[in-house]
Amino acid sequence: MRLEKYIATAGIASRRAVKKAIHEGRVTVNGVQIFMPGHPLDMDTDCVRFEGQRVTLPAQRIYVMLHKPAGYVTTRRDERGRPIVMDLVRDISENIYPVGRLDLETEGLLLLTNDGDFAYRLTHPSHEIPKTYLAWVDGVPSDKAIQRLREGVTIPGGSTAPAEVSRVGGRACTEGTVSQIQVIIHEGKKRQVRLMFKAVGHRVVRLKRIQVGELRLGNLPPGQHRLLSPAEVAGLGNDDNEV
Ligand code: URA
Repeated sequence: MRLEKYIATAGIASRRAVKKAIHEGRVTVNGVQIFMPGHPLDMDTDCVRFEGQRVTLPAQRIYVMLHKPAGYVTTRRDERGRPIVMDLVRDISENIYPVGRLDLETEGLLLLTNDGDFAYRLTHPSHEIPKTYLAWVDGVPSDKAIQRLREGVTIPGGSTAPAEVSRVGGRACTEGTVSQIQVIIHEGKKRQVRLMFKAVGHRVVRLKRIQVGELRLGNLPPGQHRLLSPAEVAGLGNDDNEV
């Protein structure tokens, strides 16, 4: 494995930040400063230090899909004592953490891992992995509102990039005053989907993430989790066979 991937996988920093640190002489292998990213490691014998600290990889990298129910905070610790997503994966002994976040009231597909490189790359904006949400919104958004969502709207913190937005089953599916809309976004601004609908005058009453990249939540029950298969991990762009 290359030096920068090794350190990023240990969760120290992103690969880009690690490369910078290597150029700046903050990384040693067997006590020798290495200035060239791409340095190949002998995983059995080499001792890597980042700013003097020994870097070790988790014994086993694991990737978990959780069906997050509403009412759970996406965090490892909550000072207010609210239910947290970690409560739902207590049977996993590895030191996993959430990849990105879903709001307290948002439900659906949440990934957790102990692979820092995977987590960094999946959440980095340049990765642009599509995330699919089902939003239940008050009222019936007009065609014009849907078009605005598709083209991008202004929300606190900037404008949203073009999104794929479609009515689920068309207007006939609208129950009472609540409409179900599918939204695929390629970025992850804070409360993005809720704020997008607010920008066009609709309140999201329920929000569920059903897919990340090609990975679907499927029929995993709320509160339950399962391990991803190697093929599913590879499908999310984990170039694990990089050496
Ligand atoms: N958009 C939101 O508004 N909330 C989420 O949790 C995820 C996307």
